[in-house]
Amino acid sequence: MDAVTEIIKQAQHAINSAQDLQALENFRVQYLGKKGEITALLKNLGTLSADERPRAGQLINDAKNLVETELQNRRTILETEQLNQELAGETIDVTLPGIQNKLGSLHPLTRSLQRLIKIFNSLGFQTIEGPEVETEYYNFTALNTPEHHPARAMHDTFYFADGRLLRSHTSPVQIHYMENHQPPFRLIAPGRVYRRDSDMTHTPMFNQIEGLLLSKNSSFADLKGLLHTVLEQFFEKELTIRMRPSYFPFTEPSAEVDVAWGDKWLEILGCGMVHPNVLQACNIDSEKYTGFAFGMGLERLVMLRYGIPDLRLLFEKVAI
Ligand code: PHE
Repeated sequence: MDAVTEIIKQAQHAINSAQDLQALENFRVQYLGKKGEITALLKNLGTLSADERPRAGQLINDAKNLVETELQNRRTILETEQLNQELAGETIDVTLPGIQNKLGSLHPLTRSLQRLIKIFNSLGFQTIEGPEVETEYYNFTALNTPEHHPARAMHDTFYFADGRLLRSHTSPVQIHYMENHQPPFRLIAPGRVYRRDSDMTHTPMFNQIEGLLLSKNSSFADLKGLLHTVLEQFFEKELTIRMRPSYFPFTEPSAEVDVAWGDKWLEILGCGMVHPNVLQACNIDSEKYTGFAFGMGLERLVMLRYGIPDLRLLFEKVAI
């Protein structure tokens, strides 16, 4: 009797401590399986005397039933827990946004800008930005273009009532940077610029990528080599380029760069060696440092690369 009571106690403890169905099944086998402990007691009945046998048989059968009931109860609890866990894991929140098909892609201007930034970065140029609302000082004066200088008329500038303006080129970003950094450095400054202009080849807003390199021994030849490399990488083919003498107040000498495209020369950018007056306005020693700057029109490059005939297509909503 003691043995039976002891087994029941152990079985109850084991069953109630089982944390999952597999552990529970192991305990069932341990007590009620073919070689289980309670099964063994039943098998041993034959060794008892005839008058002991009925009482012992009754006792062991009761124990067997009790353990079976406990097993079943625990099984029900564990199955419910498992189901609840599965349900919690699979909960669908029907108020969340559905799975969407992503239509569309990056705008050609964005793609091209990202590619150009990558090309310049790989050549050691860092990317910076500057404000689109500027003062006359940054847009003109510091760039060696004093008041009443005829070059101010080259850009038809948008002015605010307070005298500030929408930058007409990205060159003022050069000034912001040089005011706070001493050479050597090389950077590009992409961004929007604004001019009062609108036709097939002009929009009131367009994008430029400014470039600036200052060091102790940079030359016009370096400028040409750099631009040739960048343009060939951008267009992914060999190009013939030419530099045409030009004028910008903030560079001397200045040039415009054309690429041979079909049977035409197409103008792509303006550039030159940074004018000493510009360096002096930023407290950079123009005897010690030289450098070059350039400004390219992003839209122009994109139109060529993708064969887009009308600049305005880049900014209009197009039905497809
Ligand atoms: N800022 C000039 C323009 O908008 C381009 C340029 C930049 C020229 C830097 C020379 C050097 O036309």
